[in-house]
Amino acid sequence: MDFKLNGKNVSYEGKASDRLLDVLRNDFDCKSVKCGCKEGECGACAVLIDGVLHNSCCVAMGSIENADVMTLEGYRETERFAALSKAFGELSAVQCGFCIPGMVLASEALLRENPHPSEEEVREGLSGNLCRCTGYNAIVNAVLNAAKEGDGLW
Ligand code: FES
Ligand code: FES
Repeated sequence: MDFKLNGKNVSYEGKASDRLLDVLRNDFDCKSVKCGCKEGECGACAVLIDGVLHNSCCVAMGSIENADVMTLEGYRETERFAALSKAFGELSAVQCGFCIPGMVLASEALLRENPHPSEEEVREGLSGNLCRCTGYNAIVNAVLNAAKEGDGLW
């Protein structure tokens, strides 16, 4: 299977039924993609596929032929990541960090669709991503701040 990963053309020779989550971690060293539940419930494994947020534990390799996959390893090179990272840092929105790669990519997917979200829209946009540490408020406020400070990036 040929696909694009973080801007580079790559191919995978394994089975079409293999999970994208496992392949990204084990074959392409994308350790930002976390395994929380393997059931599509926690969002820790979220990646962007053709710009759309997907839980990679629920994606079979056979379905991503020619797709454009982005993980935090690629996204962290962008100005948008810098704006989100600054806001998360300023509001202490990162505790153990396990959920954060998925949260950041969910934030990107949200802001790409809606660059000026309300608090409720941010909560809705991040509702597929579970965090055991922060109580969510700091993360929601960080996304709102990033949208404001990074106005024009999305
Ligand atoms: S590991 Fe994929 S949603 Fe939890
Ligand atoms: S910061 Fe620990 S799970 Fe979210």
